[in-house]
Amino acid sequence: MKLVVLREAARGERRVAVIPPSVPSLTAAGVEVAVETGAGRGALWSDHAYLEAGATVAPAGELLRDADVVTSIRLPSPALLGELRPGATYVGLWSPGAEPEAIRALLAVGASSFSLELLPRITRAQSMDVLSSQATVAGYHGALLAAARLGRFFPMLMTAAGTIPPAKVFVLGAGVAGLQAIATARRLGAVVTGHDVRAAAGGEVESLGARFVGLPAADLAEGEGGYAAAQPEEQLRRQREAIADSVAGSDAVITTAAIPGRRAPVVLTEGMLARLAPGSLVVDLAADSGGNTELTKPGEEVHVGGATVLGVTNPPGSMPVHASQLYSRNVTTFLVSLVRGGALVEELEDEILESTCVTWKGQLRQQRFAPTAGGEGSRGGAGGSTQGPTAAGGAHAGAVSATRPEAAHGTEPEAAHGTEPGAVRGTEPGATGGTGPGALDGSDR
Ligand SMILES: NC(=O)c1ccc[n+]([C@@H]2O[C@H](COP(=O)([O-])OP(=O)(O)OC[C@H]3O[C@@H](n4cnc5c(N)ncnc54)[C@H](O)[C@@H]3O)[C@@H](O)[C@H]2O)c1
Repeated sequence: MKLVVLREAARGERRVAVIPPSVPSLTAAGVEVAVETGAGRGALWSDHAYLEAGATVAPAGELLRDADVVTSIRLPSPALLGELRPGATYVGLWSPGAEPEAIRALLAVGASSFSLELLPRITRAQSMDVLSSQATVAGYHGALLAAARLGRFFPMLMTAAGTIPPAKVFVLGAGVAGLQAIATARRLGAVVTGHDVRAAAGGEVESLGARFVGLPAADLAEGEGGYAAAQPEEQLRRQREAIADSVAGSDAVITTAAIPGRRAPVVLTEGMLARLAPGSLVVDLAADSGGNTELTKPGEEVHVGGATVLGVTNPPGSMPVHASQLYSRNVTTFLVSLVRGGALVEELEDEILESTCVTWKGQLRQQRFAPTAGGEGSRGGAGGSTQGPTAAGGAHAGAVSATRPEAAHGTEPEAAHGTEPGAVRGTEPGATGGTGPGALDGSDR
């Protein structure tokens, strides 16, 4: 079975789906690995490293014609999907509910396709869980960005020149990204408060040494599979009231709230942001799916009163080396589960393959993703949650599809939004070049 690893086409995306250290376990499963020229460059893997690992390297055009399985993190263009060999298979982190054109292209070439966004968040799938691995990177990056851009110490300092109190950090949404942001801000010495609309999050937040601000039972918003559910406006209003003082009293706020299949919930209003003290900072990791504040602009910083709101796009892409390493391990485990005796499985034998399958041998496997006549996506419901912090690799089905502001495949991606990595429109002191902690966009030029 021949697997082709594409170079990411999305503008500025530096991650790669499979890194050289994963090639031997694929080869051992009877998979012949071929990698598009330059695919690993953004994650610091040379073409030579892939050759040494036993893969072949060539331009996509040469590889696609006899590829059995094609993989990338972010969805390639419908045009490229149309170049797949009839009956081939595509595997990636994409939101089928928001990609009707891609589904049409896949059906037109009789392809099978899998979306890792639809992976059930069950223990048996943890080793394949790209949502969690990428959310971990996003949460870590969010806390570092807050620490670097706040312009104050996160830890308490006792010096001969006096004592500086620790920074107060509020983390909205305590899923995988939020818990990582809490843990990282704690490690940096800040006093941290976490908040979520799921009761179960309380224990996880407190286990990290942070305070948890919960909601009365009537205002919890528990959805399927451990995810949150959308809240009616009245419930959101009560939630805002419940957290307003905690938010207003914080030096930095990191937002990670997300709901599967929907735009990110807008929890922080302009009024709440205006109560923040001068110099306060909001790091919105859900910007790719619309953001958790009324003022968030993806890839930009917005000033309100004396506070600043950073709309962070593609946060997992901010650390392409480790984000790719984790992703590669996840997707390799998934790909090996697709192989039997060196060939693709003939039947979708288990819940994981069944849940993630979008098209199977040219037939739509999940009707909820049927492209509508109007060309719109079906905004298929729950299952898989990706927008929010892991947006740029996927998207809550139907949410703001920020996945592919791409350059034509194979050409040099150009600078996005006219912003240099690390530079931010309306840059404040402290913004650093490159994609260091000051960076708003996890992508590179
Ligand atoms: N069993 C497993 O192996 C496994 C692995 C990973 C995650 N999970 C579970 O999956 C669930 C989803 O995790 P995720 O990080 O992908 O979630 P996610 O990215 O969908 O959402 C992030 C967080 O935002 C919260 N949220 C939504 N609306 C909110 C609002 N208005 N205000 C505040 N918070 C809001 C959600 O409750 C969630 O905790 C969690 O319960 C997690 O524990 C399970």
